[in-house]
Amino acid sequence: MSTNPLKCWSKIAIALISCAIAIFVGISPVLAEVPSGEQLFNSNCSACHIGGNNVIISHKTLRKEALEKYAMNSLEAIRYQVVNGKNAMPAFGGRLNEEEIDAIATYVLGQAELDWSTKVEVSTSQEVSERKS
Ligand code: HEC
Repeated sequence: MSTNPLKCWSKIAIALISCAIAIFVGISPVLAEVPSGEQLFNSNCSACHIGGNNVIISHKTLRKEALEKYAMNSLEAIRYQVVNGKNAMPAFGGRLNEEEIDAIATYVLGQAELDWSTKVEVSTSQEVSERKS
């Protein structure tokens, strides 16, 4: 034991901080196991659907108009296609669990509402109508 009480307290503080860091580092991979819909979309879907587009069949986008046209504008329809795949789109049923697929489908519908642009909220109404034309 150090004879200087300040030195002793600083050792305790260092030990506590190291402990907190160790716990945080230990927990963070657990937190990372539940990624958001956006993260899941980026790692599983964006290769073909970057920005809500479709690089293989260009008219089958994830935009609101296309989803409505092809009756894909519901959680159930998106969930079904993600689980089972369709033509050139692979099935994700074996790779993603139900919770993850729900998160992705919710994200896709939400982004379709925003026209896949996070700037929509800050745009003026004139910019929004220009974007739509
Ligand atoms: C390898 C490329 C590829 C990947 C990866 C992919 N898709 Fe697709 N996706 C397609 C193709 C191709 C179609 C059109 C299928 C058809 O109708 O023939 C499509 C269609 C869709 C549609 C319907 C669009 C419309 O306008 O009808 C949705 C919704 C969709 N994909 C969601 C997803 C989601 C969510 C993921 C990630 C889990 C994903 N896709 C991953 C290729 C892909």
